[in-house]
Amino acid sequence: MEREIRVGLCGCGVIGEGVVTTLLQHADIIGKRVGAPLRLAAVADKDSARLDIVRAQDPSISLIDDAFEIVTRDDVDVVVELIGGVEVADRLVRAALDAKKHVVTANKALLADRGGALFALAEANGCDLYFEAAVAGSIPAIRVIRESLAADRILSVRGIINGTSNYILSSMANDGAAFDDALKAAQQAGFAEANPTLDITGGDAGHKLAILAALAFGARVRPGEIPTEGIENVDPRDIQYARNFGYVIRPLAVAERLETGALDLRVHPALVPVRDPLAHVDGALNAVAIQGAMVGPSFLAGLGAGAAPTAVSVVGDIIDIAKNALAGAPVRTWSLPSDGAPEIQAIADLSSRYYLRFSVRDESGVLATLSGKLGNSGISIEKMVQDAATGDAGAASIAMLTHHAREGDLRDSLHAIDNTHLTTAPTHLIRIVE
Ligand code: HSE
Repeated sequence: MEREIRVGLCGCGVIGEGVVTTLLQHADIIGKRVGAPLRLAAVADKDSARLDIVRAQDPSISLIDDAFEIVTRDDVDVVVELIGGVEVADRLVRAALDAKKHVVTANKALLADRGGALFALAEANGCDLYFEAAVAGSIPAIRVIRESLAADRILSVRGIINGTSNYILSSMANDGAAFDDALKAAQQAGFAEANPTLDITGGDAGHKLAILAALAFGARVRPGEIPTEGIENVDPRDIQYARNFGYVIRPLAVAERLETGALDLRVHPALVPVRDPLAHVDGALNAVAIQGAMVGPSFLAGLGAGAAPTAVSVVGDIIDIAKNALAGAPVRTWSLPSDGAPEIQAIADLSSRYYLRFSVRDESGVLATLSGKLGNSGISIEKMVQDAATGDAGAASIAMLTHHAREGDLRDSLHAIDNTHLTTAPTHLIRIVE
C-alpha cells in the first residue's frame, strides 16, 4: 500500500492558517510532487476559534489545544512549529526531535538564539530540521546560499528582510501615509510579528541576518551583537530629501566579509540609489542580494511576509522532508555551520557615505560654522540643500550627503555640533548603501 506522510501543525495563526489552506487546496499537486499523499493529521492551537476555521475546511483533522500533544502522536511524521517566540518553541522543538519527528519551523528568533543546540539535537536523533520560511518569506534564500552557491565563497549578503518595515517606508514614500497608519495596515495584512516592535526596531531583521551570516560565513553571531537600528525615526522629510538627492530609503540588513577577516554586520534604514535593484523592492517585498567570489551578483526578490507566501516555503520544506523519508534517504542534517564567533566590526569603524539632516537656527553664519566643524573632523560634504524654517519651529533644515567618512569621527563631530546653540533638534543621520 502507498505510504502517506502525516503532518502535525503547532500554531494556527496567520502563517499556520496559510499552511492549512496550502496543504488542503494544493493536495493534488503536492501529492504528485511528493509521490504520496501529504496529510494534515493534527493541528494544535490554544485559540478554539482558530481550530473552528480548520474544522470547517476539513472535519477529519484532529484538533487539539496543547501543541505538546502533537509531538508524541503516532500519526505524525513531521512537526511544523509555528507558535513563535523562543522559550516554549524551544521546548516544543526539542520534544519533537526527542520523539524522532522531523521538524519544520519558521521561527527566526528561535534559530538565531538556540539554532546551534537544536541542530545538534536533530543530528543526534537522526531528524531533519528545516527552516526556509524563517528568512524572507517566499524567497528561497536559505536554499540558494546553502545549496546552490555551496561551491562559492560568499563575499556579501545585503537585503531587505523585514516586510513590515519595507511596507511602512514604502507607504510613507508612495502614498504619504503616516507611520502609525502604515503599521496598522501591515498588521491587518498579516505581515507584522505578534509583537510589531520586533519589526520596526530591526530586531526581526537582526534574527534573520544572524541566520544568513551563519550560512554565508559560518559565523556564530548572537543577534544582540549586530549593530541594529529600526525605522522608527525615519521622518517624511528624510524621505523627501532622499528622493531629491536621487535615493530611496529602505530597511537594510548587511553582512559582509571585510579584508581584515572581520564581519561588517548591521541592520538599519539606508539611502539606496534609485538605480539600485533594492530601490525597486517595494511594499512587503523582500530581496536578498548575494555577492559570490565566483558567481558575482545574484539577486532574489519576492514577498517576504504574509500568510500565503510564507506558507508555501513551509510546505516546500515539508515536501523535501517527505520525499527524503519516502526514498529511505539518510537524513541530511542542514545545520547553521559555525567556524566560531567572528570579530564584528564596531559601527564606529564603519566607512560609509552619510545623509545628514540638521535643524538649525535661521541666522547668518550658521552654515559656515557647521561646515567648518565638519571639515575640522575630516568630513567632506558632497551635496547640500537648505530650506528656510519649514522644520521644527523657527528652524531651517539643512540636508546633506557626505563623502566617505569614518562613522566614529562623524558622530563625534555631530555631537559637538548638537551641543552648540546652532541646532534646535538632534541631527538625523542615515547611512548610504550602494
Ligand atoms: N514580520 C516579518 C516581516 C514576517 O515583516 O518581515 C516575516 O518574517
